[in-house]
Amino acid sequence: MAGLVISPVFLAIFRNLFVPASRPDGGLWAPCPRETRAAPEMFPLTIENFDGFGLAEPLARALRTAGFSTPTPIQAGAIPPAMAGRDLLGIAQTGTGKTLAFALPTLQHLLGERRRAAAFATRALILSPTRELAVQIDETFRRLAAGTPLSTALILGGVGRGGQVRRMARGVDLVIGTPGRVCDLMSTGELRLGGVSHFVLDEADRMLDLGFIRDIRRVIAALPAARQSMLFSATMPIEVGGLAESLLREPVRVEVAAAAPTPLAITQQVHHVRAGGKRALLADMLRDVEMRRVIVFTRTKRAADRLAEELDAEGFAAECMHGNMSQNARQRALEGFRGGRARVLVATDLAARGLDVAGVTHVVNYDLPNEPESYVHRIGRTARAGASGVAIAFCDASERGFLRAIERLTGVRLAIVGGADWLAASAEEKPRAPGGRGAPHGGRTQREGSGRQGSGRQSSGRQGSGGRRAA
Ligand SMILES: Nc1ncnc2c1ncn2[C@@H]1O[C@H](COP(=O)(O)OP(=O)(O)OP(=O)(O)O)[C@@H](O)[C@H]1O
Ligand SMILES: [Mg+2]
Repeated sequence: MAGLVISPVFLAIFRNLFVPASRPDGGLWAPCPRETRAAPEMFPLTIENFDGFGLAEPLARALRTAGFSTPTPIQAGAIPPAMAGRDLLGIAQTGTGKTLAFALPTLQHLLGERRRAAAFATRALILSPTRELAVQIDETFRRLAAGTPLSTALILGGVGRGGQVRRMARGVDLVIGTPGRVCDLMSTGELRLGGVSHFVLDEADRMLDLGFIRDIRRVIAALPAARQSMLFSATMPIEVGGLAESLLREPVRVEVAAAAPTPLAITQQVHHVRAGGKRALLADMLRDVEMRRVIVFTRTKRAADRLAEELDAEGFAAECMHGNMSQNARQRALEGFRGGRARVLVATDLAARGLDVAGVTHVVNYDLPNEPESYVHRIGRTARAGASGVAIAFCDASERGFLRAIERLTGVRLAIVGGADWLAASAEEKPRAPGGRGAPHGGRTQREGSGRQGSGRQSSGRQGSGGRRAA
């Protein structure tokens, strides 16, 4: 695999875009030593505005309308090889514009091909792990393609299939969907993938884990060998990295090598708290009007339901979103939150990946996730597109191992903003068992303030190197 690591020199161009000016060493992205570098002449690295990509006029116009003039680093790095037809693995932090990095080259190619999809067929397939994310990606594609004849179809579960089948009957240029319903329509011949020239897996590491891999293999088996494939994510654990690369043909790896996989613009904090004290702590925090738009993540659907109800009863406008709800109710909750009707969205990991809601000021990990990658995606719902945000973790005694795994993966020491006394006392009560969950970090005092460590960082693409499943 050819590697293309976006260097700090190049990224200096983007200092003011998505990069907080306060970073002492002056840049968010650092070279990733593990990667072989592509010859610089292979793909130009000097594209400072979207005009440099030679995009078709309707696409360029759509970007102007959206007010986008400067490509983000992942866009600047990925779009040239993607436009050249290369298979690609793109890794960059949450909220840095990966959607456009695959949408623009795909649309440009489809516009250039001048062929129409046959009945029930499509020319491009984009898969995402959740329906809400598929809806969002579809909206992005439709906005970009507004001035073109290109058509899209959303193929996802939880809603009637009749309308989707009718849409497919006409043939569409792009299908954006979730794997279950895509496989369903494939099996009845109502979605034919033999003419697909472009295939994208967004949130690729999630799409290749156990929950989806069978469906993904079925989809890939139905795709023509001659196609362009692109995989994107903010995380790529080493366990799935090899599988990801095996799906690609002579791929280019474009990695925006960050100092840490979590954006610097997120202030990361932890409250050590008894499990039974979490709800009162959250209610107390929410009295702070600075918490204008808050996503709260729980581990279970039941906990999400209960917490949303309790918050609502206490006068905090809260919506709830999890996989046991009807699709309409899920989408309504998200739109209610997006539109400002609810100040708080209580959700499971269903809302962890990809969702782009403007102005989320805080993410609260009410329960810590057992997979540290989930933490990276969850907190990435704030501080998007150059904004800043706060991520607050609640950590009870049973979750200290999860916290250690998160800190190891992100290379960030979360600042303790509450419960330090209780942490110290309970650590004394329960001396650390071998391999068990005693005092975090071997009892070292944690730094307050930025909570950042100076060493031991892993970039987004290097998370596999011993940095996984530490809990
Ligand atoms: N070149 C650009 N200039 C300004 N804003 C941009 C640009 N590209 C994308 N954005 C905006 O940045 C936000 C984040 O983009 P996007 O959702 O594609 O991020 P992402 O990298 O896919 O994040 P995640 O890993 O969470 O899925 C969106 O609101 C998008 O409109
Ligand atoms: Mg995304």
